[in-house]
Amino acid sequence: MNSSVRKFVFRDLQKIDGYIDPPDALVFLSLIEKQQQENLLGGLAEIGVYYGRSYFLLRKISAPDNNVLAIDLFDIEAGDAQYQRFLDNGRSMGIPVDEELVISGDSTRLDPQAIIDKIGKVRFFSIDGGHLLRHVVADSHLAGSVLADHGIIAFDDTFNPAWPEVTIGVSDFLRRNSDRFVAFCMTKYKTYVCRREYHDFYRAAICEAQHLKPFEHADMDFLGSKVVRLHNPLNRRVAYEVMQRLGMGGLSEWAYRPG
Ligand SMILES: C[S@@+](CC[C@H](N)C(=O)[O-])C[C@H]1O[C@@H](n2cnc3c(N)ncnc32)[C@H](O)[C@@H]1O
Repeated sequence: MNSSVRKFVFRDLQKIDGYIDPPDALVFLSLIEKQQQENLLGGLAEIGVYYGRSYFLLRKISAPDNNVLAIDLFDIEAGDAQYQRFLDNGRSMGIPVDEELVISGDSTRLDPQAIIDKIGKVRFFSIDGGHLLRHVVADSHLAGSVLADHGIIAFDDTFNPAWPEVTIGVSDFLRRNSDRFVAFCMTKYKTYVCRREYHDFYRAAICEAQHLKPFEHADMDFLGSKVVRLHNPLNRRVAYEVMQRLGMGGLSEWAYRPG
């Protein structure tokens, strides 16, 4: 059980503006830990880092390796303010950004070789950039072409009614590539995909992960594959939110204790 990453998830993550919350942070942790245990190597990458909330999580989970690639337009604020806040967050977390592993630009125009040159084949690829169909089509194609055999793609904002084209893009990707890629896990916000040959391995990793015991597990079918849906129970969500709002971030881990 990685207690230092768990502390980071519950105490530090919320200090960074952004969108990943404990349920998906614990899925990231469980999957990447499993890869490490099985010596399944490769880089990690994210399209859409914003101010770095999930990027710093990936850095923390995969430390001491330094092979997390950040890709973003960094144009949300005037000038380079978004980029500077991203760097500042790294300094204040004690996880300085390696600027050699930042690609500042449009992911939809990125050559896969640019990723391979920086981190080699990718074992965990978080896609959270542009949320229109054309972005998801390009980003999923890019991720698929640099993914290690044992690699995972985590698509954000799937089935979110605010971003319907993400759902269409991910479904299209899975249907067009049904001989190669399948979903194995879904949360409220994300859909996790791997190569067909690794489906049972990662599905079992989710079912057996200690970090994920607090969530309700339900089996469902999605485009021809068995997917574990993780549900975040109301009582745990409320306990977590109350503790966070009372400034008791460190203690909020109690809401998601495995035992
Ligand atoms: C929802 S935010 C990402 C949140 C982040 N993953 C987190 O953990 O908080 C979306 C990000 O995608 C970036 N983005 C949007 N379109 C993009 C594109 N075509 N190429 C690269 N980045 C893009 C935006 O600049 C923004 O920072």
